[in-house]
Amino acid sequence: MNETLNLIESRKSVRSYLHQAPSREERDAIVHAALRAPTAGNMMLYSILEIEDQAIKDRLAVTCDHQPFIAKAPLVLMFLADYQRWFDFFKHSGVEELAQRMGTPLRRPQEGDLMLAISDALIAAQTAVLAAESMGIGSCYIGDIIENYEVHRELLQLPEYVFPIGMVCFGFPTENQKLRAQPSRYSESLIVFKDRYRRLGPDDFARMERETPAREASEAANTGQQVYLRKYAPDFMLEMNRSVREILKNWTHS
Ligand SMILES: Cc1cc2nc3c(=O)[nH]c(=O)nc-3n(C[C@H](O)[C@H](O)[C@H](O)COP(=O)(O)O)c2cc1C
Repeated sequence: MNETLNLIESRKSVRSYLHQAPSREERDAIVHAALRAPTAGNMMLYSILEIEDQAIKDRLAVTCDHQPFIAKAPLVLMFLADYQRWFDFFKHSGVEELAQRMGTPLRRPQEGDLMLAISDALIAAQTAVLAAESMGIGSCYIGDIIENYEVHRELLQLPEYVFPIGMVCFGFPTENQKLRAQPSRYSESLIVFKDRYRRLGPDDFARMERETPAREASEAANTGQQVYLRKYAPDFMLEMNRSVREILKNWTHS
């Protein structure tokens, strides 16, 4: 394996950080790497919000499903799917008049535009994650940034066509984090198919159960039930779905 493959192989999420923050050069290298990520139409349909204000970090640690480590992360980057920049640029460039001359209404950003912008934002985020990892700086995604849209819209002054799709906390790992076991992954046969999609059957599900046996004694009898209760059905997921429906109203114009 080469250095890059080794890096990808050994990465794991880091949720506890040394006080020492990444240097200016390291921060710049992470951001620069993100900006070099592939992007649809070379349009860079995302923005990166660097959260420096401790009061905002503290608030996000609460609004993102109560995760205190967010407040302690020395570097926090939020990745926003962003069509606002281009839509404003279109208007600035006389596109409204152009559309009128062509007899077509000005098209506002819609669901497909959002999907591309989300792809862009997340590809940039993961490029930043790997760049940080290459300098010994650990990271952790915060998916819960999708929750509480109205609160985040107000807190971060998000305009209509900006969708806060991901946040990443960065920092040097503590000794404990370095020693923590790396989570395993499901086998390739469960995830990678050839030519056509393959619905999984009982043998595959038995394999999933073997590969991630249910850990805690609880009302869950197996992995499927445990994941349902802990990751799929809890209140934070209900809130995430509610919040996304609210954000989508901007893009579906409903
Ligand atoms: C989209 C996404 C959202 C995530 N959200 C959170 C989060 O809110 N809090 C957290 O501690 N980890 C979060 N994670 C990290 C995952 O829990 C982690 O990647 C997973 O458990 C696998 O562990 P590993 O990254 O160490 O291999 C998120 C990861 C992704 C990709």
